[in-house]
Amino acid sequence: MTAAVGIELTDATLASDVETGLALVEDGLREAARAQHEVLNDASMHLIDAGGKRFRPMLLLLAAQFGDPHDERLVPAAVAVELTHQATLYHDDVMDEADTRRGSPSANSRWDNAVAILTGDYLFARASLILADLGPEAIKIQAETFARLVTGQIAETVGPRPGTDPVEHYLYVVTEKSSSLIATAGRFGAMFSGAPADVVTRIAVASAALGVAFQLSDDLLDVASESAQSGKTPGTDLREGVRTLPMLHALRSAGPADARLVKLLNMGELADPALHAEALTLLRAHPAMEQARTDTRKWAEAAHAEILGLPDVPARAAFEALCDYVVERTG
Ligand code: IPE
Ligand code: IPE
Ligand code: MG
Ligand code: MG
Repeated sequence: MTAAVGIELTDATLASDVETGLALVEDGLREAARAQHEVLNDASMHLIDAGGKRFRPMLLLLAAQFGDPHDERLVPAAVAVELTHQATLYHDDVMDEADTRRGSPSANSRWDNAVAILTGDYLFARASLILADLGPEAIKIQAETFARLVTGQIAETVGPRPGTDPVEHYLYVVTEKSSSLIATAGRFGAMFSGAPADVVTRIAVASAALGVAFQLSDDLLDVASESAQSGKTPGTDLREGVRTLPMLHALRSAGPADARLVKLLNMGELADPALHAEALTLLRAHPAMEQARTDTRKWAEAAHAEILGLPDVPARAAFEALCDYVVERTG
């Protein structure tokens, strides 16, 4: 079986567990996203129907292989994590003024900002409802994760304080806004499968590093990939003045030949289509892209090193494949 995230699951039992789990997650998502109000219902189904890789449910189900992968709490936990992720996407597209998501119009462009914000809120509420049945520990972890997501987003919005190293700030933002939820996906999978405490911790640590690599590669894709692959509009970060790792490396290593790119990056938001296109072309060709790729690989390698300390069940090889996937992914 080749999963949606593009890794090959060669072990038959593992493939069947994951496939069954992901199908149940789809049903759970649709059930949870239903709303009485017609517009809310349409808007909350919109992103689910548009697709998505289901990376977090996949990670959660793989982590569950280190305990009892059939524990009935796993599917609801995966649904709650994916709902939380999708809620952040509704809000993120408002903040980033993004018009495309998962190859479809974003909710803010299909409807408007108010509908997109409320739909995100609704999905957060629906995720909480599911977690309430999973107990106080799950609710606590979710609440802490949610607080970190918001903290990461505000840190990105406000930017680094004067005197702070911009790369350090960027890594902090990435860890809080994205890696926190990916780490929770891994933790929930191990925890609800009843895996031993040391395995739960190791999976959470590995997933956190994997989560950083995942967001680093997302930021590379924002520069390098076309909409057909990513389902998003390329260069959104450049347009919004969000300084991601390739830009920070370009600014840090800039020589005389980079004067134009530096000027464009220092303009902040690049609303002018011609300037935006110019900056995107210059950045794509800059060695800073390769530097950021090397950093992404390092984070994936750190995740890999943790994973090697896990028991050698078939899911461990799948976890290892995820490390390669986050570095090589094109969408
Ligand atoms: C996008 O997440 C936002 C990030 C944290 C990078 P995904 O790349 O998992 O988005 P979908 O769910 O596949 O659309
Ligand atoms: C997404 O960050 C992080 C979230 C927690 C939503 P981005 O703004 O980089 O994600 P994309 O590229 O729009 O998916
Ligand atoms: Mg965005
Ligand atoms: Mg964003």
